Amino acid sequence: AWDPTRASEIIAALAHKEGPTLVILHALQEAFGYVPEAAVPMVAQALNLSRAEVHGVLTFYPDFRREPPGRHVLKLCRAEACQAAGGDALAVHAETRLGVAFGGTCADGSVTLEPVYCLGLCATAPAAMLNDRVVGRLDTKRLDRLMAEAQR
Ligand code: FES
Repeated sequence: AWDPTRASEIIAALAHKEGPTLVILHALQEAFGYVPEAAVPMVAQALNLSRAEVHGVLTFYPDFRREPPGRHVLKLCRAEACQAAGGDALAVHAETRLGVAFGGTCADGSVTLEPVYCLGLCATAPAAMLNDRVVGRLDTKRLDRLMAEAQR
């Protein structure tokens, strides 16, 4: 859960880095799973930036979540090699089955579905990642199994 004290520590520890805004936002997402709006003024103050500047960076990169994710995050690769290997149909299948669009979280809070652009598994496309585990050679059946696992 979001913890402002811990967030302050993370920000303070990284404020001296090169290009600190992105470094800090990534670290906050790593720590909390998302970057809440409450982080914006904290980062702005630490880096002597305006809130609008920090907010701009946060919203520019689709990698940053601004809401807490579900208990599991399923990332489907939407890049070229996976698309060519049937990724589009799998993407539609996942959206239908989970009842969410990309970027959304199932109503039961179990799974957040996100796009990813190449997992380095092009040779075994189409590929996906469930939490930290990468899975290649996906087909509808394997994808169903992954989703069922995440929704258990
Ligand atoms: Fe999907 Fe590379 S394009 S893993």
